[in-house]
Amino acid sequence: MPAPRSAVIRGIGAYCPSRVLTNSDLEKMVDTSDEWIRTRTGIRERRIADPDEASSDLALRAAKQALDTAGWSPTDLDIIMVATVTPDYIFPSCACTLQGKLGATRAAAFDMSAACTGFIYGMKLAKALILSMQAKRILLVGVETLSRITNYEDRATCILFGDAAGAVVIEGSQNEGEGILSVAIGSDGDKGELLYMPGGGSKHPASHETVDGKLHTLHMAGNEVFKIAVRGMDAIARKAIEEAGCTLKDIDLLIPHQANIRIIDATAKRLEMPPEKVIITIERFGNTSASSIPLSMAEAVREGRIQPGNLLAMVAFGGGLTWGAAVVRWGGA
Ligand code: ACO
Repeated sequence: MPAPRSAVIRGIGAYCPSRVLTNSDLEKMVDTSDEWIRTRTGIRERRIADPDEASSDLALRAAKQALDTAGWSPTDLDIIMVATVTPDYIFPSCACTLQGKLGATRAAAFDMSAACTGFIYGMKLAKALILSMQAKRILLVGVETLSRITNYEDRATCILFGDAAGAVVIEGSQNEGEGILSVAIGSDGDKGELLYMPGGGSKHPASHETVDGKLHTLHMAGNEVFKIAVRGMDAIARKAIEEAGCTLKDIDLLIPHQANIRIIDATAKRLEMPPEKVIITIERFGNTSASSIPLSMAEAVREGRIQPGNLLAMVAFGGGLTWGAAVVRWGGA
């Protein structure tokens, strides 16, 4: 069997919990307003997992849909990768829990921690594993239950986040110029504490003090992250587009990480993308971190906005700090 020439997405799925948290619900919890949230972030509502739903449960629903659309069974998989900052446990990994629930008995499984950029990091690795013939069929999931690490007394963060999962299945193809054409990624650990969860790791293990200090919730210097995101997202997108051998004009659709409508608009403007070329789901789901891009892609496929042959540019920015972008020639999953 000759080495594959490309890595292509064969199936896609997404799942959002049914419970909706609206801006007017939040008005009753913290000192905020629907008007402030809509104008400053673009968010109207977000989904919240039920108490008995963990990240692996959301991931399972999205993964099954991705497998079904590809016509694969769980035993076809040889790698499961889960991008998340909210795994069920610190260990075992969310990917291993998912592997067990799926019955993917042939698959190795591991998590990736790159916050909102996790799905893009996963595509980089999936492509490399497939082209180097280390794997044939990969399940890549982005999933978060951010509601579990959100401080619902902090109005600057609790209005932003939601829970969701998105998944794709990827395999090799002999056709050059299709599937994942390029993936560019980067990081800056010096700025890690602009967006992080201080408690629960080896630095501040769980104690009465960490619980009282709310260290097991997400902390963010929103305004600083905002400025860095606006400056950085178009640069990494341009890099991925150049590495794919394309120009900005070739891109049919931009699928940005859904962190803030103002970041999305600024990035689209810098990339000269008109509004009809930009996928926006933040209004309904808020910021779902690693699941934001596969969820948005699945929504766009469901709505018929993504057609076979379309050239897609995805771009993300998040905790780490991390950033990344990918260019994909859609094959019709
Ligand atoms: N309701 C009303 N007022 C608020 C709220 C709220 N929910 N939140 C903050 N404010 C107030 C502040 O207290 C401040 O008041 P002051 O001027 O009296 O001090 C004022 O609004 C402005 O606050 P800023 O923080 O400067 O507001 P900003 O316009 O930056 O918006 C936001 C805040 C929405 C958090 C924005 O900074 C943002 O989206 N940041 C980027 C988030 C991001 O991209 N994260 C990366 C991905 S997430 C991940 O990786 C998990």
